[in-house]
Amino acid sequence: MKILGIETSCDETSVAIVEDGRKVFGNVIYSQIPLHALTGGVVPEVAAREHVLKMVPVLDEALKKAKCDWDDIDAIAITHGPGLVSSLIIGTQTASVISFVKNKILIPVQHIVGHIYSNWLYGLDENESKISDDIAFPALVLTVSGGHNDMILMRGHNKFKVLGETLDDAAGEAFDKVARILGLGYPGGPAISKMAVNGNTKRFKLPRSFLEKDSLNFSFSGLKTAVLREVQKHTNIDEQFKADMSASFQEAVTDVFVYKVLEALKQNPKVKEVMLAGGVSANTRIRNALTNALPIDVKFRFPRSISYCTDNAAMIASAGYFLYKLNPAKYKACTNIVPTTSFEIY
Ligand code: KG4
Ligand code: ZN
Repeated sequence: MKILGIETSCDETSVAIVEDGRKVFGNVIYSQIPLHALTGGVVPEVAAREHVLKMVPVLDEALKKAKCDWDDIDAIAITHGPGLVSSLIIGTQTASVISFVKNKILIPVQHIVGHIYSNWLYGLDENESKISDDIAFPALVLTVSGGHNDMILMRGHNKFKVLGETLDDAAGEAFDKVARILGLGYPGGPAISKMAVNGNTKRFKLPRSFLEKDSLNFSFSGLKTAVLREVQKHTNIDEQFKADMSASFQEAVTDVFVYKVLEALKQNPKVKEVMLAGGVSANTRIRNALTNALPIDVKFRFPRSISYCTDNAAMIASAGYFLYKLNPAKYKACTNIVPTTSFEIY
């Protein structure tokens, strides 16, 4: 079954074609990053206007890349939230029009659920025999993005329990804000991890917010403020300062993730796999630290390609497939879907 996914929740216009929830035939991502770098963050109206301009060209390019025409597409999966409503609506309206005009089944997908399914994806260039292993449940998922930061227990397809979430900033948001404080540009995650390579993780003593005992919630605003205070104390913010601060900050976030994942495993001893998802899952230091910290009988996964970590439509098409398989009668052709303002995971 081939599903065409559409994602426009924030500042990426993306369309992908994925077969049976895993095999990516084409995943076209038009990123608005250079545009938002000018303002140091996303201005919603600017993002929405850019989606309007790029939606149809990206759609055409994805079909071309996947060598598909509309007859090859069995259904459409669309991100309906959470996200910027003015961005979401460009995708949901496009998907709804296709559903009516081309008579295609339409499947709404929650954005964070989409991120989780990025772990199922693989490209046409990969050796399929090595990939055939399916993910074993129950699995623990740490979803870490600019807009969300959750610890989720996944008992099966579409069976999610949120064990913890951020009480203030998400980790990606903290990366972006710290990068801004250090003058490293937008988005902050890749800039900080690049600077951190030459930095000393121990130069600055930054707080780790583990919260009360047993808590699986997160809090990163204190860490961000501590970085700001250090920067204000110093008059000479040179490249070495930026590298050391990037490394110290990244280490503080990493320590919290390792601690919380181990705590979640302690509380859920039947967990067979741990997965990372969301833009911050691209971070090499966090990946390596978790790889080293996890018990050997727990499998650790993160998305196979960096392009599946940040916002993309392949993950939406994948989630759409598994949702559809669970309950095909629920989804219909000629359907209109509007953005949801709910943050609830299914
Ligand atoms: O999932 P995503 O594309 O968008 C949301 O749904 O929020 O995540 C974007 C976030 C940004 O905050 C960005 O700074 C962060 O992911 N990010 C990273 C890295 N690459 C992207 N954070 C840390 N290290 C990275 N290598
Ligand atoms: Zn996202």
